[in-house]
Amino acid sequence: MRVGVIGSGYVGLTTAACLAHLGHEVVAADLDSDRVARLNKGDIPILEEGMPKLVADGLASRRLRFVVGAANAARDAELIFICVATPQGDDGAADLSFVEIAAREIAPVLSPGAVVINKSTMPVGSTRFVQRVLHETAGGQLDRVTVASNPEFLREGQAVRDFLNPDRIVIGCDDPEAAVKVGDLYRSVRAPVIVTDPASAEMIKYASNAFLATKISFINAIANLCEEVDADVREVALGMGYDPRIGFQFLHPGPGYGGSCFPKDTSALLYTAQTHGYDFGLLKGVIDVNRNQYDRTVAKIRSAAGGSFEGRVVGAWGLTFKADTDDMRDSPALHILRQVMAEGATVRAYDPAAGEQAENQLPGVVACQDAYEAANGSDVLAVLTEWDEFRWKDFDRILSSMRSASIVDARNLLDPAALRRRGFKYVGIGR
Ligand SMILES: NC(=O)c1ccc[n+]([C@@H]2O[C@H](COP(=O)([O-])OP(=O)(O)OC[C@H]3O[C@@H](n4cnc5c(N)ncnc54)[C@H](O)[C@@H]3O)[C@@H](O)[C@H]2O)c1
Repeated sequence: MRVGVIGSGYVGLTTAACLAHLGHEVVAADLDSDRVARLNKGDIPILEEGMPKLVADGLASRRLRFVVGAANAARDAELIFICVATPQGDDGAADLSFVEIAAREIAPVLSPGAVVINKSTMPVGSTRFVQRVLHETAGGQLDRVTVASNPEFLREGQAVRDFLNPDRIVIGCDDPEAAVKVGDLYRSVRAPVIVTDPASAEMIKYASNAFLATKISFINAIANLCEEVDADVREVALGMGYDPRIGFQFLHPGPGYGGSCFPKDTSALLYTAQTHGYDFGLLKGVIDVNRNQYDRTVAKIRSAAGGSFEGRVVGAWGLTFKADTDDMRDSPALHILRQVMAEGATVRAYDPAAGEQAENQLPGVVACQDAYEAANGSDVLAVLTEWDEFRWKDFDRILSSMRSASIVDARNLLDPAALRRRGFKYVGIGR
């Protein structure tokens, strides 16, 4: 099928590359001409396993190309995915302005019978919103164009795998014929397909993310309580997780959830609840626990630094919002380190994937080339992202290079007993 993809960011690039891999003819657009030029050369701007090969194969087979401008991707397409960002607005709601601009750009060029698919995460009502914008812009010239919702559930770091082997495919559409067309795109993907109304499809995405965020805040709250009663949250999570109704996933305490989805999506769902007169106290609690978790982590680092950050040096391991990605959007590490720096500490940070973004995101940070350099001369070492490589460092070397031997492990990544034996003061989360 001929597919247009609007937005070649995380989700758009994954959608375009994977659909080309499945045999479709894909034209993906972005506003950013540098990004488009890089992508057409097979130069992938994000760290994502399998993506370089998929894009190279797509370009070589001519089933995939990148263009500047949404209209250029939509013009000859039977199905057009909207994959632009839906960031958090000032009032907490999802900001649909990028979606609206994209819809206005494509409306004049849509072919008769085209299906526009909302893949970006958009609140309930957005399918109708896009339909209205398209009709307004085309001034009654739209011929049998339908809008469907097909939310994306990929996890960064395994986006390709998740797209090609999803747990489920959700299609929300009032028009059965259009829903079948969207389903046909995924014919060679083995996964349950849920065809439903647009509002339910939109809600499935928000409810899923809010539920996962709830699990994280729940185990963080339990971890905080474990600290008070001398229990070990890792044992608690293990004992809980064997119950299949609970499961092990997302029961890892840490510095709070972050990234480009959970903070904004929980906030947008809360906004939806508020505007419909429902007091979603549970979700409010999830968000509060999360904000509080950033502050608790700062407090732990401050306390390890002797009660004040003035004149202190904090070594930081990890800046990305989780391991195996180079994405730093809304990363807990950034929230925490901005506060640590605001209170007067010098931060020496290392992240295996953050690259030059570190200095842009944290002005004044000492960006280090490796984990040892970050620890060197610091009063406290804070582990903020769960990169596997941090487990396997030479901690004797680190001990001798630090000004004072204190570690705050906000991911419970390291072995407390081994570190204490060496002479470190170790503080984890909930243990
Ligand atoms: N990143 C994830 O893990 C993930 C997972 C599931 C869902 N989502 C949702 O998918 C959506 C996109 O997220 P993302 O992380 O891919 O965002 P992103 O910021 O990485 O990508 C968006 C891209 O769209 C481009 N763009 C914006 N307006 C455009 C226009 N008019 N024409 C052409 N290109 C345009 C931007 O230049 C950018 O490259 C969001 O709603 C997000 O919540 C993201």
